[in-house]
Formats: sequence, C-alpha cells, structure tokens
Amino acid sequence: MTPKNDRFLRALRREPVDCTPVWLMRQAGRYLPEYRATRKEAGSFLAMAKNPEIACEVTLQPLRRFPLDAAILFSDILTVPDAMGLGLYFVEGEGPKFERPVRDAAAVAKLAVPDMETELRYVMDAVRTIRRELDDAVPLIGFSGSPWTLACYMIEGGGSKDFGRIKAMAYSEPALLHQLLSVVTDAVIAYLGAQRAAGAQALQVFDTWGGVLSPALYREFSLKYLQRIASELKRGEGAERTPLILFGKGNGPYIDQLAACGAEALGVDWTVSLEDAAWRSKGKVALQGNLDPATLYASPDAIRTQVREVLDSYMHGNGGSRDGHVFNLGHGMSPDMDPEHVAVLVEEVHAYSRR
Ligand code: CP3
Repeated sequence: MTPKNDRFLRALRREPVDCTPVWLMRQAGRYLPEYRATRKEAGSFLAMAKNPEIACEVTLQPLRRFPLDAAILFSDILTVPDAMGLGLYFVEGEGPKFERPVRDAAAVAKLAVPDMETELRYVMDAVRTIRRELDDAVPLIGFSGSPWTLACYMIEGGGSKDFGRIKAMAYSEPALLHQLLSVVTDAVIAYLGAQRAAGAQALQVFDTWGGVLSPALYREFSLKYLQRIASELKRGEGAERTPLILFGKGNGPYIDQLAACGAEALGVDWTVSLEDAAWRSKGKVALQGNLDPATLYASPDAIRTQVREVLDSYMHGNGGSRDGHVFNLGHGMSPDMDPEHVAVLVEEVHAYSRR
C-alpha cells in the first residue's frame, strides 16, 4: 500500500515532491510531556519498548503534534545484543549497560543469530501494531544499529569515552573482532529483513560510532559490514524496493564510498555541508539531514534561518533541485528541547521548500 503521504518514500527514490519531507531522529522521547507520562505509567524505557501497544502509542505521539512525514518504530538498537543473551539494562543518568559484555574468544564463540519471531517477536509485533494504527497515513521506518556500533556496546559493556576495549581488540585481535562482527552482521540482516516483512516501509542503519575510527579501521571494521548489509538486503528485491538509509555520525569523509554501497540514501551529521555531500555523491543516493540538533535551543527566528540554510545547501549541491532530500537533524533530539521549537522547524521545512 502506498501511504497517503508518500513524500518521504518519493524523496528517497529521488522523485519529485510538493515539498521536502521531514522527520527527526528521536522524535519520540522525553522532550514530550505525553512521553514522560506514558513512561511513568509503564515504569521504564524497556517496559515501553517491550510492550507493542505502548511502543505503538509512543511512536504516534510526535505525529499527533507535528505534521511529520514519517514515523519511526519506537525501540532501540540494543534489542539485538539483548536477544543474543547479553542482558540489557539501563541505569538512570548513565545510559545503557550489559550484564554480560563480550570480553573473550569463548564469549564470541557463544554468539548466535537470535530468532526474529520468538526472541525479538515484541519488535515485530510493534511494527505490525504501528502499521495497523497508522492506517497508511505516513510510512513507518524500521531500524537497526550498525555492526560496529552494536559491537562497541557489546564489548565496552555500555557507553564509552575512548572505546579502549574494542579498539584494543581491533588492533591486537582483529580476527576475533571480525568473527564477532560477522555474527552481528548476520543478525542485523535478519532483523532488518524481519522488520521489512512485518511492514516497515523504509529501513535505517545507525552507525553512531563509526566516526571514532581512523580511516583504515573504518573501512575494515565498519564500512565493509555496511556494504554487506546493503548488498544482502537488496538481493532479491524486485521493483518494490524498501529504501535503505545508512546514517553515520562522522561519516563525512566516507560519503563517496558509502554512496556506492547500494543503499538508497545516506544520513549525515551537521559537520559536513549537504552541498558538499550532494556534490560528492553525484546523484547516486538521496541525502538525509543535517541540521545541528542544538539549533533547537536557539530562538524561533534563528531556527528558521538555519532550516533554510540546510535546504539551500542541499539544493546548491544538487544542481538547483530540492529533489532527493529528506530533512532531519544531524543526530537525535535531547530531553530538554522545547516542543514548540520542533513545531517551528517542521513548519519552516515545508513552507520554505514548497515547490
Ligand atoms: O528516533 C526515534 O524516535 C526512535 C527510537 C530510538 C531510540 N533509540 C529510543 C530511545 C532509536 C532509533 C534509538 C537508537 C539508538 N539507541 C542508538 C542509535 C541512535 C543514535 O543516537 O545515534 C543508540 C546509540 C542507542 C542506545 C541508547 N538507548 C542510548 C545511548 C540511550 C539513551 C540513554 C539515556 O539515558 O538517555 C538509549 C535509551 C533510549 N532509546 C531512549 C529513547 C527514547 C531514552 C529512554 C528514556 O529514558 O525514556
């Protein structure tokens, strides 16, 4: 079924649209009072994500407030390592943690691809529930972490400042790290494929930590696995393609190689100009981004100015056309952002880009 509002899917296919579509990474979250209320009732983030009805409710909350052009599944990238037996939990103010991080060859050898319709059934049920409730108003985005980014959490056991453990493994035991990345890549491909089968109409891979690598290590430990994901997901797709978006923080230096992966779109952060990114990707992919999220702390007038800059930057790099651009932030929203400012952003994207 084609959604009633298909601007987002059309832009990903680089087809003409009436105005530039917009959605925001972390558009569902603590900056919304209704999210905080639902979270209080459910008890915790994980309790929300593991309950398909609540995950659906929270997915729809930002769409009731703002005329966003896509919904994103309310879940987390760490559901996959959790299903692999690592034991995900959250410590208030400290972020995600694993009870059983992967620290040696024996732990790597024990990793296996989880079953998508048993261990990760709650995610697929959430996708199906959201599709039913959305009733084709806007498309639904499914997502996964990239193998490298998931490996960071699996090996570090949580967030990290310097990624010392995983980098030590990359330098001193590269074969062991490749063994881990290989299983995780199989899991990511199965996970995205299952979300697609359950009804996700576009898929995004979050490579949040690819940018912490040197260029040589990025190619060996992140890019190579992104390429494998793109080629395996695209294999066997007919005319009906489910667009794949590769988002990476700090992926600016690798636009050229990423554009050749076979994905339909690249998501970029605000440290690269869209003009430059569009020029370097030469019309091979759509581009998604890339307003600095901190712009949302500024005044409404400043937000409007910055939105226009991003829209025009893309257009200048894309031969004077706004086609093939999905507006987004360069990274996710923060809990202390003002919903009124989000309304200003979304309105300005549509108004200024209207053809
Ligand atoms: O964009 C959306 O609205 C969809 C939902 C979504 C969440 N996490 C919900 C969430 C998505 C796409 C993610 C992906 C995710 N999770 C990433 C990659 C994206 C990125 O930011 O680059 C990463 C690195 C994670 C791991 C993770 N999960 C972190 C670092 C945190 C924050 C912890 C904290 O204390 O703020 C989470 C929890 C999380 N995932 C929240 C939300 C809304 C906050 C939950 C809460 O406390 O209510």
